[in-house]
Amino acid sequence: MNRNLGRLKKFEPEKENLLEEILRGFNKPQKELPSKLFYDERGSALFDEICELNEYYLTRTETSIMLDNIEDICSVLGNKCLLIELGSGSSRKIRLLLTGLQDPAGYVPIDISEEHLINSVNALAKDYPSLRIFPVYADYTQPLNLPNFEFSHSKKAVYYPGSTIGNFEPKYAAKFLNRIANRLGRENGLLIGIDLKKDNKTLEDAYNDKKGVTADFNLNILRRLNRELGTDFNMDNWKHHAFYNRNEGRIEMHLISLSDQTVHLNGSSITFVKNETILTEYSYKYSVEDFKDLISDAYDLEKVWTDKENRFGILYFTVK
Ligand code: AVJ
Repeated sequence: MNRNLGRLKKFEPEKENLLEEILRGFNKPQKELPSKLFYDERGSALFDEICELNEYYLTRTETSIMLDNIEDICSVLGNKCLLIELGSGSSRKIRLLLTGLQDPAGYVPIDISEEHLINSVNALAKDYPSLRIFPVYADYTQPLNLPNFEFSHSKKAVYYPGSTIGNFEPKYAAKFLNRIANRLGRENGLLIGIDLKKDNKTLEDAYNDKKGVTADFNLNILRRLNRELGTDFNMDNWKHHAFYNRNEGRIEMHLISLSDQTVHLNGSSITFVKNETILTEYSYKYSVEDFKDLISDAYDLEKVWTDKENRFGILYFTVK
């Protein structure tokens, strides 16, 4: 047992709040479900599978940018850096940083999938026996009272890879990152992965893979609601649909209702007409310039790393 692996800190999401959030989404003219619901155990595993797909260039590209620039990235983070990762999932990319960094002060993975988090930190603790790890099971979009990290560290850096920030509409992305800047304080860092704007085909293929893993990932959200909240979605009545909305600069994932139908949730009836959709995810794409401007109230852009084809960007900011 690694004595440096801290006890899991839990901020269990309240079922009541979740029900309310879901009902609110179903009451909108464009019905919607929160994307964070994708990540139950099965969904997290499906997402890992997506990351390996040929069409899903994001993970592969981000990893290769990290590999190509690891020394530079680590030197920007400096010695004794405390890393806080939002949505740590399988904690794969962090390994590159942990291996490259000089004496990292600690690692705080935050994830919404408890099982997935436990498994990944156990593996990580084995491979990095001298690393202090403080796993946090939480919905990081909610305000969290993280412990005060008393042990010595030079600076803190929030690591937010994968272009997950793209799930937020830009104004909420800015709000969310501003709140993080306030928590971090001046001169601390944000290392963030951004998927860059590109041609429609590359983007749309990435969310419509041939094997149908993304479709399965999208539909899994309904299976989860049926299991955990007792809804009665008929899985044969729904279909995956993803497209690039060029005007808004975002991929949209929807579930299309294949017939007129009614679904029940906690005493409420929700009706869908044929071809009506539930919006399950936005995935915004940015230019480096746009993203820099989006959060320029709170952050200075210090460094940018991209791949040759400019598909993906890793940006390092410091808090103003
Ligand atoms: C984890 C939010 C970055 O938007 O590309 C992958 C999730 N959805 N395929 C993304 C996702 C469909 C992914 N993020």
